[in-house]
Amino acid sequence: MDREVFQEQHGLLGSSDAMRQVVDKIMQVAKTDITVLMQGESGVGKDVTARAIHNVSQRKNNNLVIVNCGAIPEGIIESELFGHEKGAFTGANESREGYFEKADRGTIFLDEIGDTPKNVQVKLLRVLESGEFFRVGSSKIKTTDVRVVAATNQDLWQLVQDGIFREDLYYRLDTVKIHLPPLRDRQEDIIPIFRKFVQESSSRYDSVFKGFSDDARELLISYRWPGNIRELRNVAEQLVVLEKSQFIDKSTLQKYLKGRQHEGSADNLPILSENSRTKDSASDPDLDSKDRELIYRALVELRNDIADVKKMFANFIYSTFSNKNIKALPPSVRNEVDNHEVSDMNIDVGDHGTLGMQSMPEQQEINTPEESEMEQFFGDDKIPSIEETEKFLIEQALKKFDGNRRKASDTLGISERTLYRKLDQYGLE
Ligand SMILES: Nc1ncnc2c1ncn2[C@@H]1O[C@H](COP(=O)(O)OP(=O)(O)O)[C@@H](O)[C@H]1O
Ligand SMILES: [Mg+2]
Repeated sequence: MDREVFQEQHGLLGSSDAMRQVVDKIMQVAKTDITVLMQGESGVGKDVTARAIHNVSQRKNNNLVIVNCGAIPEGIIESELFGHEKGAFTGANESREGYFEKADRGTIFLDEIGDTPKNVQVKLLRVLESGEFFRVGSSKIKTTDVRVVAATNQDLWQLVQDGIFREDLYYRLDTVKIHLPPLRDRQEDIIPIFRKFVQESSSRYDSVFKGFSDDARELLISYRWPGNIRELRNVAEQLVVLEKSQFIDKSTLQKYLKGRQHEGSADNLPILSENSRTKDSASDPDLDSKDRELIYRALVELRNDIADVKKMFANFIYSTFSNKNIKALPPSVRNEVDNHEVSDMNIDVGDHGTLGMQSMPEQQEINTPEESEMEQFFGDDKIPSIEETEKFLIEQALKKFDGNRRKASDTLGISERTLYRKLDQYGLE
């Protein structure tokens, strides 16, 4: 296949020498079963590449399972990867398959592989070498046929030297290495990719992009792009919407680059200029343009947050509930969970690391309601209201602790007083 066609199909843009070499390599290895190790900063296209590799492989009709090894708490990573048997630990009420089983005959993408705890690294080595593994709590060997694509934004060899990463696993992964260069090292890609993003956003938001002054264009090229293509995409989208029909000069562009700490945080919001406040208000007496800007930006952030929360929630449900309980969930939730891919649990926050699910309770401590109650509660695909859900959770907590209100309120994360108020409100005993 033609390189450009491949790039277009898989959304891997860029015609710099560096990018061409990368794409050639991807095209060479994609159809094989060979293990691929990707190295690159956040936002350079590791996810896109993993998907491209899977989608052109013979395995494309089976699962692509995406695992962020850095985002799964150490205590549950083994059972996430390899599954567990009923009774393997407190709370393991049913046996469950792990990601390696789910990826059988497909591809597993092990993102942030450098963060895998050492005791799990041994098990990874075994499954990569022989396809063999054990579920937690079982002594029966299982086998799986997976193609492995791994990624890291760290220097894995350095981790080996520091004694954090096993050397044998390093060599096992090091079959084909693909280094995805940061955007600042392939500056000639910036404008063409930016242009493409602008086109997309313009048609999506029915907006016109007027273009740049020379010094703005130079800034676009010389900027460091710590968030790489992810950041470039965000800037393009924001300019299209917020600077609608404006010619972009350097100071305008600066507002969108300056102080960008991490993705999705309020820190990266452009500073509002006085004239943007007054300009549009004449055309829309109801909404001052500053308000509109704020609303738009809040919406963009909210949309990103919701996507991330959906992902986290789906994974949380997937790792917590049994298959039967998953079937009892409302369709909107189930769609997320049943998704062809099991995606990562992390929220990527640019170069500043990864927000994992550390704040979530460990799997062993989660108390799931009885199946029949869950099914009754979620009924025939009906989505319960927040009040109903709250009431249900309160009932479950009280039941669990034999009516002990202090323990129930602790578990629910509310004060005892609030619990009393809610008991009253819902007419509960
Ligand atoms: N070469 C590329 N061409 C076009 N878009 C890209 C490219 N690389 C990354 N992107 C876009 O940038 C964003 C981040 O890419 P992603 O693959 O998630 O990066 P990473 O996994 O390395 O953090 C996504 O919106 C993706 O579509
Ligand atoms: Mg990624």
